[in-house]
Amino acid sequence: MQILETIVDARAVLATARSERQRIALVPTMGNLHAGHLSLVQKARQLCDRVIVSIYVNPLQFGAGEDFANYPRTLDADCQQLRQAGVDWVFSPDDQGLYPAGKDQSAFIEVPGLSSILEGRSRPGHFRGVATVVNKLFNIVQPEMAIFGEKDFQQLLVIRRMVVDLNLAVEVVGMPTLREADGLAMSSRNQYLSASERKQASTLYQVLNATREQLLAGVTDYSRLTSEAIETLHACGFSPDYFEIRRCDDLQLPRTPGDNKVILAAARLGRTRLIDNLPV
Ligand code: PAJ
Repeated sequence: MQILETIVDARAVLATARSERQRIALVPTMGNLHAGHLSLVQKARQLCDRVIVSIYVNPLQFGAGEDFANYPRTLDADCQQLRQAGVDWVFSPDDQGLYPAGKDQSAFIEVPGLSSILEGRSRPGHFRGVATVVNKLFNIVQPEMAIFGEKDFQQLLVIRRMVVDLNLAVEVVGMPTLREADGLAMSSRNQYLSASERKQASTLYQVLNATREQLLAGVTDYSRLTSEAIETLHACGFSPDYFEIRRCDDLQLPRTPGDNKVILAAARLGRTRLIDNLPV
C-alpha cells in the first residue's frame, strides 16, 4: 500500500492505473477508522480493480466551536488497518495542498436547499465544506465509483445531488450503517462519550426504532411521533437538535403515506453530538 501525501503524486499514480484500464474506487474519510469505514472499503474492493482511501480532516466542514482541533487523528493505525484490508493507496493531503489560497479564500461548491435543512440548519456551512472537499477529491482521483455511508444520510444525498447537477462522471454507492452490539451507530465521535454516556447512547437508536415500528404499524401523525420521541430523548438525558420523519429521496416532509421515509435525528449527550437515521 502506498501513502500519497501530495496531489502531484496522487495524480501521477492514478494516471498510470487509469492508462492500464484499471477501475478505481474512492472511499473518502476523515480517518480514525472503524468497522463502518472498513465496510465501505470492502465494498470498494468488490466493485473496482483498485481502491484509494482519502484521509483528511477537512477544516471547511467544521463550524466555529466544533471539534476540528480535537477530532481524533490516528494516521498510523488507520494505515495499518487499510493495509490489512487490501487498499492500494491512501491519500492524505495537508491543508496547504488542498487549500493553497487558505480555506476561506477557496472556490466552493454549494448544493442549495438540501444543505440548509436538518444537519445544515444545525451546522451552517457544513455541507458546503463537504461538497467542496468531495468535489476536489473527485477531481484529483477521477474515480469510477465513490463509496459513502448511509450513517450520514443527508451527506449522501447532498453528494448525489452535486454529482447529478454538475454532471460528474462518478457513480456514488451508498452503504448501510454499521452498528455496535447495542445498536449505537459506529462513529469516530463515540470515543468522546464517558462510560455512563456510552451506556445511555444506544437510546437514540432505540427511539428511532420505536418510531419506525409505529410508522410500519400505520401511524401517520408524524408530528405526534416526533414530539414524543423528542420528549423521550430529553427524559433520557439527551439534548435533541432535531428528530424528523422525511422523504428518503429529497428529505422533504412526506406528502402521502406511501412516500418512502427515513427518520433522522441529531442529539447531544454531554459534550458529544450524535447523529443517526433509520430508513423505514
Ligand atoms: P467520516 O465521518 O470519516 O466518514 C467517512 C465515510 O464513512 C462516510 O461516507 C460515512 O457515512 C461513513 N461511515 C461513518 N460511520 C459509518 C458507519 N457506522 N457505518 C457505515 N458507514 C459509516 O463523512 C465524512 O468522513 C466526511 O464528511 C467526508 C465525506 C470524508 C468529507 O470530508
